[in-house]
Amino acid sequence: VIVRHSRGVYDVRFSTMQEAMRGLPEGAFVVTDENVQAAWGHLFPPTSTVLTVPPGESSKSMARLEWTLRLLADSGAVRSSVVAAVGGGVVGDLAGLAAALYMRGLRYFQVPTSLLAQVDSSVGGKVAVDLPEGKNLVGAFYPPETVLVPTDALQTLPAREFRAGMAEVWKCGFILDRDLVETLRQRPMGPDDPRLPSVVERCIDWKRQIVEEDEYETTGRRAILNFGHTVGHALERLSEYRMLHGEAVSIGMVVEAKLGERLGVTQEGTAAQVLALLCGEGLPVECADLARIDELIEAMKLDKKAGPDGLAFSLLTFLGGCKLVRAVSEAPVRAVLNLE
Ligand SMILES: NC(=O)c1ccc[n+]([C@@H]2O[C@H](COP(=O)([O-])OP(=O)(O)OC[C@H]3O[C@@H](n4cnc5c(N)ncnc54)[C@H](O)[C@@H]3O)[C@@H](O)[C@H]2O)c1
Ligand SMILES: [Zn+2]
Repeated sequence: VIVRHSRGVYDVRFSTMQEAMRGLPEGAFVVTDENVQAAWGHLFPPTSTVLTVPPGESSKSMARLEWTLRLLADSGAVRSSVVAAVGGGVVGDLAGLAAALYMRGLRYFQVPTSLLAQVDSSVGGKVAVDLPEGKNLVGAFYPPETVLVPTDALQTLPAREFRAGMAEVWKCGFILDRDLVETLRQRPMGPDDPRLPSVVERCIDWKRQIVEEDEYETTGRRAILNFGHTVGHALERLSEYRMLHGEAVSIGMVVEAKLGERLGVTQEGTAAQVLALLCGEGLPVECADLARIDELIEAMKLDKKAGPDGLAFSLLTFLGGCKLVRAVSEAPVRAVLNLE
C-alpha cells in the first residue's frame, strides 16, 4: 500500500517482526513500551538505541514527551537520525510527536504491533500526546517515512486488546465495505486466523483512501471514520479510560446505528445486525454507563465534530455505507439512550 500526502509518499509493507527489525536503518532510536520490549526486544537491531516507556495511555504525556526528547539528545540523536516506533498506538503517537519536534523533525518509521495500531493509527500521519484537560490535545500531522506491519506481532497481543482492535476492523466493514463484513461474519477472528493479513491490509487501504481525500481533516470526509466514536469517546471518558477504546467504540456503534435508524438515515434492521455481529465477536454492546445520559451528552458536546448547530455523527446509511450527519439535536440521542 502506498500512501500519498502533501509532503510526499510513504510505503506500508507487510512482513514478520524479524524482517521489520532488519528493515530499520542502522543506528535507529527504537521507542517501545515494556510489554513489547519483553515480547520482541530480542529482535531489536543490535545497533539501535532503545527507549522503553511504561505501557498504557499515561505514557502519552507532556512529561514523557520531554523525557523522550531529552533521551534523544543525551544519546546523541542528530538531524539525520531515525526514530522507530515499535509498539501500539501509544508508542506510535508519542514517538511520532517526538520525531516531529526533535530538531524540527527526524526521520520516522512506524512498526505497529497492536491490531488497533496496524489498522488505524499507523496510517494518517496524526501524532499526539494528551493533556490532563483532554486526549490528543498536543499533536501534529507528521507522516512516517515507512510503515512496517509485522503481522506475527499480534500473536503476543493480549486477547482483550486483540478483540478491541477488531472493533475498528468491523467499523471499517460497516462504514465502507459490505464484502469485509461478509468475510468477518463467517467466524470470530483470532491472531493466527488465515484471513487476518488480508483483512488488515484491506482496512489500511480504506484508511489510506479516506485520509488521502482529506489529509488535514478539513472537508469532513475523514470524519466518517468516526462511526461509533461520538458515543465511544464519551463512554471512554466516563469510564475514566478503564474501558478500552475498541470496547467503547463497539458499544458506540450499536447506539449510533440505533440513532441512525431513528433519524431515518440508516436502513431499518441495520442496528440489530450490528449488535449481533459485534456480540458474535465477543465485543461488548452495552454497559451500565449508558444510563448516565446527561453526562454522556455533555461529553459528546466536547467532540471535535460538534458544531454550534448541534452534535455530529458518522451514521450508517446501510451495512457497508455511511455519511456524516451534522446538526443533530439532543432529543433523538436522549431517546435512543433511554431505550438502553
Ligand atoms: N494517531 C492516530 O491516528 C490514532 C488512531 C487511533 C488511535 N490512536 C491512539 O492509539 C492509542 C491506543 O493504541 P493501542 O490500542 O495500540 O494501545 P497501546 O499502545 O496502549 O497498546 C495496547 C496494549 O497492548 C500492548 N501491546 C502492544 N503490542 C503488543 C504486542 N505485539 N505484544 C504484546 N503486547 C502488546 C501494549 O503494551 C499495551 O499494554 C490511543 O492513545 C489512541 O489515541 C491514534
Ligand atoms: Zn478509533
